[in-house]
Amino acid sequence: MTAPQPATKDHQPLILALPKGRILKAVTPLLEQAGLTPSDDCLGDSSRKLRFPTSNPNIDVVRVRSFDVATFVATGGAHIGICGADVLMEFDYPAIYAPLDLGIGKCRISVAQPENLPHSADEWSQWSEVRAATKYPAITRRYFAARGINANIVHLHGAMELAPMLGLSRLIVDLVDTGSTLRANGLREVETIASVTSRVIVNRTALKTRPEEITAILDTFRAACKTSL
Ligand code: PRP
Ligand code: MG
Repeated sequence: MTAPQPATKDHQPLILALPKGRILKAVTPLLEQAGLTPSDDCLGDSSRKLRFPTSNPNIDVVRVRSFDVATFVATGGAHIGICGADVLMEFDYPAIYAPLDLGIGKCRISVAQPENLPHSADEWSQWSEVRAATKYPAITRRYFAARGINANIVHLHGAMELAPMLGLSRLIVDLVDTGSTLRANGLREVETIASVTSRVIVNRTALKTRPEEITAILDTFRAACKTSL
């Protein structure tokens, strides 16, 4: 592979959007193997900067909220991104192409309820509506609509587990990994909606206008995934 040439004034670096938090930590070894190590201040919490150079002069990283990775890529602000399948399912942006499953950040989107409440498919079949707290309003509406149930959404951005105990909702729909947050808050998982892993996503227009560069990055991610198996 030839060494990457420095970006010039006429040729701006590609922007790779990464989600801050757990996924950023999990994805760092892959970025290193792919020759895209971000500058040190990207990984710590001390910097207020949001855009960082990488070891490849043609690629800069921006660090954003996981939901916003998809929005930056869909709007073309970022050319490439890494985000969870949960975010892709929620927004379903037509401008995004998701060619590669990195197999990291494994978890699931589930319905959970207080552990003392009964749960059975028979009981759900009696319902015409339910109140659910979630940061996934579209996924939740779709899931219950497919069962003939109208979901009244309480839209939260975190700490959903509080909603049933404080009377905001009967159910929550949220990510579950180890299940410890549910247990610590008196809830149990009653249905799994979907499995989640992190994907590499690409803006479809960028793939047409800068195909060689983007294909090369996808190839380095593919190779890095194989090495880390
Ligand atoms: C996520 C998710 C659950 C928890 C699941 O929350 O929303 O609350 O992690 O992980 P577990 O099954 O291993 O306990 P996060 O800690 O990211 O915070 P937030 O919901 O407040 O954003
Ligand atoms: Mg949470």
